[in-house]
Amino acid sequence: MEPITIFGFAGSLRKGSYNKALLRTALQLLPKDAKLEIFDLEGIPLFNQDMEKQMPEKVKEFKAKIKGADAILVATPEYNYSMPGVLKNAIDWASRPYGDNSFEGKPVAIMSASPGMFGGARAQYHLRQTLVFLDMHPVNKPEVMVPFAHEKVNEQGIIADAKTREKIKDLLESMVAWTRKLRQ
Ligand SMILES: Cc1cc2nc3c(=O)[nH]c(=O)nc-3n(C[C@H](O)[C@H](O)[C@H](O)COP(=O)(O)O)c2cc1C
Repeated sequence: MEPITIFGFAGSLRKGSYNKALLRTALQLLPKDAKLEIFDLEGIPLFNQDMEKQMPEKVKEFKAKIKGADAILVATPEYNYSMPGVLKNAIDWASRPYGDNSFEGKPVAIMSASPGMFGGARAQYHLRQTLVFLDMHPVNKPEVMVPFAHEKVNEQGIIADAKTREKIKDLLESMVAWTRKLRQ
């Protein structure tokens, strides 16, 4: 069976990001029939509609990698009960120009981590609203929302908490099964 190719990115530029840690952990927990490439949003400039016909190189690269992947994995922080501008900005670039939405029809899975007690749940629901317009197909369950993330990440920047790791593993398995199902 051909492996499912997953393209993942986190909505944080922070070196010690808990959401980047979720993606690194996902690399360890991937099903055998899947591959994951992680992309850093550092260097994607602020969206300017005047530039959408001559996109910056980093945005071209981002769009090409999204298009080339079978499925998308997003790890989002929660900023002021929503997704960070860094993530929304990258999504806006990749959705343009009109008629060239790189995300169209792709399956997507979401994770979030926060030091707070809700684990980024509210950001996930805002992100899900955006996914509707992008015409993506989100995995609904399990929901990976990681509260008190600072207590769950080890010094290597990996999620060490066993229950959280189990959830991430389940999400990846659901994501691969969902991607294969959508292909049928
Ligand atoms: C501008 C700003 C707004 C924030 N708002 C929230 C919030 O609404 N809910 C929450 O749980 N954490 C909030 N936080 C804390 C973030 O969850 C925390 O900084 C987290 O570490 C960010 O994710 P990262 O570790 O992947 O960079 C906020 C942080 C910043 C900088």
